[in-house]
Amino acid sequence: MIDVRSDTVTKPTRQMLEAMTCAQVGDDILGDDPSVKELEALGASMFQKEAALFVVSGTMANQLAVMTLTNRGDEVIVGSDSHIYNLEVGALAALSQVQARPVECVEGRPDPAVFECAIQEAGIQRTHTGLICLENTYDLNRGYPVPREEMESIVNLAANYGVPVYLDGARIFNAASALGTTVEELTRPVAALQVCLTKGLCAPFGSLLIGDGAFIEKARWLRQRIGGGMRQAGYMAAAAVVALRTMPEQIGRDNWNARLLAERIAARIPEIISPHTVKSNIINLDLAQSRVDTEQFYQAVLEKDVLIKPLGGAHFRMICHYGIGEPEMDQIVDAIVHAFAKARIH
Ligand SMILES: Cc1ncc(COP(=O)(O)O)c(C=O)c1O
Repeated sequence: MIDVRSDTVTKPTRQMLEAMTCAQVGDDILGDDPSVKELEALGASMFQKEAALFVVSGTMANQLAVMTLTNRGDEVIVGSDSHIYNLEVGALAALSQVQARPVECVEGRPDPAVFECAIQEAGIQRTHTGLICLENTYDLNRGYPVPREEMESIVNLAANYGVPVYLDGARIFNAASALGTTVEELTRPVAALQVCLTKGLCAPFGSLLIGDGAFIEKARWLRQRIGGGMRQAGYMAAAAVVALRTMPEQIGRDNWNARLLAERIAARIPEIISPHTVKSNIINLDLAQSRVDTEQFYQAVLEKDVLIKPLGGAHFRMICHYGIGEPEMDQIVDAIVHAFAKARIH
């Protein structure tokens, strides 16, 4: 089965599994796990920030950042298509006790004028804007890379109002590669960010929250409060160290493959895909203009041993990752062409 529902389906490489079996571990809550310390130091140095914290997931990293940087009842400005707003089970309200103010980011672009309008003025009936959350790549179903200058203009704007900015960089390596830069250069304007280890980087577990020493110290304390303190997490950290050392260099291949796959599908069925909209490793199929039974289309793709993600309506998503190379791409194109023909309504 070829699974392109997400890059989260990636499995650890052999080198990661070997690193796990011989990892040095200790009680990380007591600060005794050398592998976790190595991972946190490596993450901080790759992004040229002071410190990092190994956490269970991207969702936990995002919520810890919000809890660390805001007060109860604050407002947090978020992109209306962001993960933190749409796909974290209402955690902004339920766990972090803040109110979200969603703003539109057309094609992933955070417009400073739009963000400025969303910042609260002082007033007896108003709350306080406590944080701006950016995301890069932006929109889990589109994967728009956001250039550094665009993030920087939001950071500069926010600084005028004394509002901190946090970046959800779940796929920051895909963004950097798509923009032809490094993660350090791309994220330099933001003081705090997270990166997921489990997506294109193929680690089995976790995210890194990254920022200055005081931010990470408070986040570490809050991680304990929400039950995210870990003991011998070094087995997982050892795999993540290998992920950070070995995987970034091949992330560009995933972006490249996504564009190639889109072009190959477009060459056969131009009406369901526009290759120029593929900006990183994420591909969207839009069958709205086709006379096709979408459920039958999905089932027919599956028949050919290819798993894609239905997004509702006539939209489907595919994400390229380490497990997708030439033979898999051929099979995916065949499956989609077969399914499109089979599901056509005559
Ligand atoms: C942009 C973004 N942020 C955060 C997350 C959450 O990561 P996790 O699934 O590890 O909680 C995801 C997961 O897909 C994501 O795409």
